[in-house]
Amino acid sequence: MKTQKRKESTIKKWHFHNPDPGSKNKDSFKILIAFASQFGSTGEVAEAIGDALCQQDCTVEIKWISDVNQVDAYDAVIVGSAIQYDKWMPEAVDFVKTHQKALSSVPVAYFFTCLTLAKKNTKTEQQALVYADKLRAISSQVVPVSVQGFAGVVDFSKMSFLTRMMLKAVTTVNGVREGDYREWDAIHAWARSVYFKLSNEESKVLE
Ligand SMILES: Cc1cc2nc3c(=O)[nH]c(=O)nc-3n(C[C@H](O)[C@H](O)[C@H](O)COP(=O)(O)O)c2cc1C
Repeated sequence: MKTQKRKESTIKKWHFHNPDPGSKNKDSFKILIAFASQFGSTGEVAEAIGDALCQQDCTVEIKWISDVNQVDAYDAVIVGSAIQYDKWMPEAVDFVKTHQKALSSVPVAYFFTCLTLAKKNTKTEQQALVYADKLRAISSQVVPVSVQGFAGVVDFSKMSFLTRMMLKAVTTVNGVREGDYREWDAIHAWARSVYFKLSNEESKVLE
């Protein structure tokens, strides 16, 4: 069963807490990063965001999105997913819809990974804005403080024959080769900036 397989491959690898929680104030700001990923690369982006956030005064928990039962225990939530067929993966969309009431009462940020941003030009940046608008439209109750897209990974060796054929056609049309397009500096920079938005430190600096 596909879903079960995905769960097993992600749950062991991605359950993650602040590596040294004892060094933090136990009342420190608690952030959940919930991610959806088919081939693992978005999980690695979630982990990189978590690492960068851990440099701040907060505790981070990273979870495969279908393992999150409730979000009440967190002060802020980051939701991320790979883009598939021009949308977030269904698990991520369902998560926001299911938890929209709770998510409307804490600061939330969204991110997505995609093939489109592997090549930067006006057309692909426009497409990324379309993806961001689609995420904002999932729930009118949840208003993210930031929505950020990142270039992802295309690794044909991990894909089924049909998925590989479909994606090969898309990559040929877009002129993108197989590869890892993740820009770690940009990912870390977003994590640092989003911390200030989620924790409301930004408004304190501006006051
Ligand atoms: C079935 C499938 C559909 C995809 N559809 C899109 C798409 O519509 N637009 C896009 O920019 N990237 C698309 N991608 C590329 C993924 O978003 C990208 O490879 C991402 O980094 C994969 O993340 P993962 O390793 O966490 O699954 C698609 C990938 C797959 C496998």
